[in-house]
Amino acid sequence: MRSHYCGQVTAELLGQEVKLAGWVHRRRDHGGVIFIDLRDREGLVQVVIAPEQQTAFANAESVRSEYVVQVKGHVRQRPQGTTNPHLHNGDIEVAATELTILNRSDPLPFPIDDTYHDVGEETRLHYRYLDIRRPEMLERLKTRAKVGRYLRHYLDTHGFVDVETPFLTRATPEGARDYLVPSRTRPGSFFALPQSPQQFKQLLMMSGVDRYYQIVRCFRDEDLRADRQPEFTQLDIETSFLDEYEIQAIMEDMIRGLFNEVLGVTLPNPFPRMTYAEAMRRFGSDKPDLRIPLELVDIGDLLRDVEFKVFADVAKDPQGRIAALRVPGGATLSRKEIDDYTRYISVFGARGLAYIKINAEGKEGLQSPILKFLPDEVVASILERTQANVGDIIFFGADKATTVNESLGALRLKIGHDRGLVEEAWRILWVVDFPMFEKGEGRIFACHHPFTSPKASTVDEFLQHDPLHVLARAYDMVLNGSEIGGGSVRINSSEMQKAVFRLLNISEEEAEEKFGHLLTAMKFGCPPHGGIAFGLDRLVMLITGATSIRDVIAFPKTQTASCPLMDAPSTVEPEQLIELGIRVVKTKE
Ligand code: AMO
Ligand code: AMP
Repeated sequence: MRSHYCGQVTAELLGQEVKLAGWVHRRRDHGGVIFIDLRDREGLVQVVIAPEQQTAFANAESVRSEYVVQVKGHVRQRPQGTTNPHLHNGDIEVAATELTILNRSDPLPFPIDDTYHDVGEETRLHYRYLDIRRPEMLERLKTRAKVGRYLRHYLDTHGFVDVETPFLTRATPEGARDYLVPSRTRPGSFFALPQSPQQFKQLLMMSGVDRYYQIVRCFRDEDLRADRQPEFTQLDIETSFLDEYEIQAIMEDMIRGLFNEVLGVTLPNPFPRMTYAEAMRRFGSDKPDLRIPLELVDIGDLLRDVEFKVFADVAKDPQGRIAALRVPGGATLSRKEIDDYTRYISVFGARGLAYIKINAEGKEGLQSPILKFLPDEVVASILERTQANVGDIIFFGADKATTVNESLGALRLKIGHDRGLVEEAWRILWVVDFPMFEKGEGRIFACHHPFTSPKASTVDEFLQHDPLHVLARAYDMVLNGSEIGGGSVRINSSEMQKAVFRLLNISEEEAEEKFGHLLTAMKFGCPPHGGIAFGLDRLVMLITGATSIRDVIAFPKTQTASCPLMDAPSTVEPEQLIELGIRVVKTKE
């Protein structure tokens, strides 16, 4: 039906006959001549239909936006003064001799151009196939394919074997809720869709596969955000006989190659590394966005004896933290802006946002609601430690360390964006030395997942220490404040694995019931092994400059985990439920 894609018709084809097929992007009547911008996957080209071409002209007259047409014609130079500098082929046009309408189109619910910002996302997702007609969306999908191709090629040529693992499986804990699939053959039993292939890839190391990878869908029923989807894609990797440094070196090399290939960007070699403790101390986050030049500074030691009880109490609390965040030039912030920031961080549990504005030199130049509670020398020490200058503002957070980190960490990002402080750059790093465990409601949880190896060579050495102080052999790759990948060296002895399960409050029976296969496999010659998984959607989101991973997934779910296009999830026929032995119980809500 065609000889070229529309976007491929350029001055190189001058004088040649071409056959094109595509969508009518725009039609303009110009006193007897009809112009059509014809669009396909590769771009636009202008087609001109003169009245002398009687049949083509008659067809062109009835054409509307988004009709599918086929055009035959020859490529010619556009007359002087009519070239379009915005098009890569704006100097030429196709003079049509034939125009056939292949299919009509009803008026679209929204135009295929940049006005999509005005269209609600629900509508865009309902008509996703139209949304993807937009060149920007198509480009993103093409970039995604290119990223996948590069990564596959890299891993294929570095000895990694692509192995598929099941979707219908058992729960494997990555910290989210499972998606369950009822079994018909064993009524009352359920498969869980994998939150990741974690256990399978470890078992493959026990099989001697040595280097595994898979581009694989993972399923997590968790609260959704711009960078999370209930089903998302991982580049999942596992290796044997490599330690964390060797694993990181290969993964860095791969990501450096990817950025060079797709964006022409040179990432540092090696990637900088930062411990979890340092990241939390300086940025309040384990995925610091290093493009923003603002840092938290600890000042608790200066405030143990001050009159302001909120600060003094927190300063003496071993779980507490008092941190300052200096914003250069921030003294111009209005009362309202400060109130808005205070409200912004209250969702993280912060009880207030004290501040000092440095309007001018000297004590009189300071403006603050807490100055009256602080002795002069304490204020002087704070100013010195935060390196405050005239024109700055210093914000304070005093609370449980987790609350301060979350709230000031988030404020740091918000202010960085609000005040245009975000550097135009690719800031990548490894965050390492994560703790093994974190404290949750009444018990401890694995920071990464329960198969992560502690930094201890024997069970005895591991159990000697307070579990909350044990570090893990885990690492995250962080790019511009996004966690794009995470992994670890794994436990490879059943004794260590059982010890970790015990600390996680998983009884011996439960461990045997849920993970017996893994514990058994570890006894049959389990090699040292470790790996990583990258969030492919996040990686592509960053590479394409999209603001949500939904924009790099062809058919994503909404914020409420549903698909407006297929109207999923949906109810099913009663017969299907009977077959599965399931009864739906309606509650009042
Ligand atoms: P983790 O849970 O850190 O590790 O996941 C790896 C990477 O997957 C991405 N990711 C997500 N992307 C989109 N939507 C989500 N809901 C979502 N959840 C996670 C992130 C993250 O860095 N089995 C381990 C890996 C390992 O230890 O090898 C795992 O799944 O970019
Ligand atoms: P108050 O005495 O409660 O009016 O607080 C005085 C100032 O301290 C106000 O600016 C509050 O926003 C701030 N503030 C109160 N509690 C905290 C806290 N836990 N951390 C930081 N600032 C706080």
